[in-house]
Amino acid sequence: MTFRLSVERLVRIFPAQGGAAEPTRAVDGVDFVATAGEITALVGPSGCGKSTLLAMIAGLEPCDSGAVRAGAVTVTALSAEKSALWRRAHVGFLFQDAGLVDRMRVIDNVMLPMIYRNAKPRDRRAAAIAALERLGLGNMIERRVDGLSGGERRRVGFARILADPRPLLICDEPSAGLDADNTEEIRKLLQIARADGACIILATHDPELVTVADKVLPMRRGQLVAPDLALRAGAQQAAAAS
Ligand SMILES: Nc1ncnc2c1ncn2[C@@H]1O[C@H](COP(=O)(O)OP(=O)(O)OP(=O)(O)O)[C@@H](O)[C@H]1O
Ligand SMILES: [Mg+2]
Repeated sequence: MTFRLSVERLVRIFPAQGGAAEPTRAVDGVDFVATAGEITALVGPSGCGKSTLLAMIAGLEPCDSGAVRAGAVTVTALSAEKSALWRRAHVGFLFQDAGLVDRMRVIDNVMLPMIYRNAKPRDRRAAAIAALERLGLGNMIERRVDGLSGGERRRVGFARILADPRPLLICDEPSAGLDADNTEEIRKLLQIARADGACIILATHDPELVTVADKVLPMRRGQLVAPDLALRAGAQQAAAAS
């Protein structure tokens, strides 16, 4: 059966903090479906809830109500332990900060998910090197990641999800801090992953990357809004700022 992700009336509310009177409705009733071989892009201003939504889809952030279903599994109903096992088998996650282990070498960071699932050492090394070379990092495999630039770290993070593909790829700002050539490479790699049948959900501010998406979901204040409303809200903000 083809992979299908279903996000149903999903809600995450953070309690009021730091003197704020109101709690933050970070994700406020989000509904959408995505399938294998499809790229869905979440777009919207900083703080609208993109990263929180991506983390909830992966079962990394609890939900207050609603559900995330991936195939036959209700991700939001899994225990922490079962959720980790499900993620290991089904999800490649590129975190907004790349999510690397600083004191480890580049190659070890890329191999980490394959170590967790007991891939053969020779296979995991070959897959990691191939992915790093693809991202122009073949000369950095032995370096520790704490000496890398922001863009290099992001590319290592991308190599990690590419080296050992999963049916669901979640990418938080995959092109942030990258130059035009590297953004183009990420675009191509996303297209290849889509052709291989991955269900890809990404959050991005990058107009170049949005063009690769089959479906664009604009978000405002935790909610999905119709594209024309997003344009109008953008025009109002621009008018207010001028
Ligand atoms: N752990 C937390 N505790 C309290 N509030 C949080 C927490 N995580 C996120 N928030 C708040 O939830 C809202 C959504 O945050 P989120 O990081 O999902 O936004 P975003 O769309 O990814 O923004 P950006 O484009 O800057 O990455 C923000 O107002 C943020 O301050
Ligand atoms: Mg974010």
